[in-house]
Parts: sequence; structure tokens; C-alpha cells
Amino acid sequence: MRTPVIAGNWKMYKTAGESAAFVKEFLPLVAGVRGVEIVLAPPFPSLSVVASLASGTNVGVASQNVHFATEGAYTGEVSPPMVKDAGARYAIIGHSERRQYFAETDDSANRKVKAVLAAGLVPILCLGETLLEREAGKTFEIAGRQLRAGLQGIAAAESRKVVVAYEPVWAIGTGKTATPEQAQEVHAFLRGILKELWGVGAADGVRILYGGSVKPENISDLMSNADIDGALVGGASLKANAFAAIVKFN
Ligand code: 13P
Repeated sequence: MRTPVIAGNWKMYKTAGESAAFVKEFLPLVAGVRGVEIVLAPPFPSLSVVASLASGTNVGVASQNVHFATEGAYTGEVSPPMVKDAGARYAIIGHSERRQYFAETDDSANRKVKAVLAAGLVPILCLGETLLEREAGKTFEIAGRQLRAGLQGIAAAESRKVVVAYEPVWAIGTGKTATPEQAQEVHAFLRGILKELWGVGAADGVRILYGGSVKPENISDLMSNADIDGALVGGASLKANAFAAIVKFN
């Protein structure tokens, strides 16, 4: 079956020194963990130090964003081959904070997913509805649109490299986790779309992570659902003990 992915998105927290201190504390806590893909997504300046400290361990590294070009005159941007060279194996794409504050769209997310796959990295495509959208009964419409658009033009043969993260915006950083039932309902819906796009076999192999106020206290309940294949963790991934407890959910 699907190997769970537990990824920590540090957002704009931790200097390179703080990142290194985290990794040194964290690695021994999770050294014995098998059967879980553990991922840390530090800010760009910490990618190399985290990747070199984690090299040869059971912990992988992700960037939090990339540009869709390989190189070019794009001041302030970082390309997929650059993050790969720094040691990343995954790239978070289309996070709601990118969509909300940095004008990311379904189209830019799609271009980035393609660029990330072309560079040999694993995209973690984020999507999710806002509170207003949920209250207006548009959860499935929004999440479905974001998934289809983000994966447009990606063939079934690439499916096993793709990770999807459902992060309802109202649950991010609010302490208000979606209930396991709410999350499972959307995850099953998203997997149904993947089946339409890629067929049952390919869709069954795709990891769909939940994100939004995941903590050591709620991870087990979330993970007990058939279509929840891991978590994308923000705040609780900043402390080595808390994140290790999430990684060790079972
Ligand atoms: P929190 O876990 O802090 O709610 O953040 C979730 C998130 O945005 C992970 O990408």
C-alpha cells in the first residue's frame, strides 16, 4: 500500500544555524522509524545545511517553492535544478500562503509541478478551500478545480512521483483541525478525480496528505482514515520533539 509521508513545512522560520540545531536534535529521535517518508522543508538558505546533515538518513528535504524556469533573469527566484543541487528531493507547490500573498494561481502551480517533475523532484501539490468557500458549500468545487488544474498535462506514468496535500485554509495556523471525517471526505473525493485522470491503479498509488493544525494529539485519528496518507505540518514541525511524535503516529 501507500507509504505515508510526514512533511514539516517550516515556512519563514529558522536561520541556517537554528535549522542545523533542529536536525541534530531530530535525527536521533526518528532514527528507528521505518515505513514513513519523513521530509523537512526549511527556508532556501537552510536547504543545503539540512540536506547535508540529513544525507544518508531516513529524512528527506523539500523546498517550499520553486520557479518554473530552469534559469533566467528572474530576480529573487530559485529553480528546481538549484534546489535539487542543494539536496532537496521534494518541492512544495501552490501552498495557500503562496496563493494568498504572492499571487500564485492554478496555472503557475501547474507550470511548477511540470518543472519539478522535469528536474526529477517530487512535487507536493497543495490545495484547499477557504472558510468562505466551505461555508458557501464550494469545498468540492474548489478543491477539485485546484487538483485538475494543478495536474493538467501530467500523464499517468508520472503519477507515482506526485504527492497531493489537502490543506483547508481555515485550518492552517488556526488550531482548528478539520475533523478526520471532514478530511477523509475530501481526500476520497480527490482520489476519485485522480482515478478519472489516471485510472484506478495509478490513483491508488498517490499519497494525499492532510495539512492544517496537525499535532501529536490528532495525527493518529487523521491517519486512521483510508485516504489520508500523511501530513503536511506547519507550526508543530518547528519543535523536534513534537514533530518526532507526529512522525511516530503509530
Ligand atoms: P499549521 O500546521 O501551522 O496549521 O500549518 C499547516 C501548513 O500550512 C503546512 O503547510
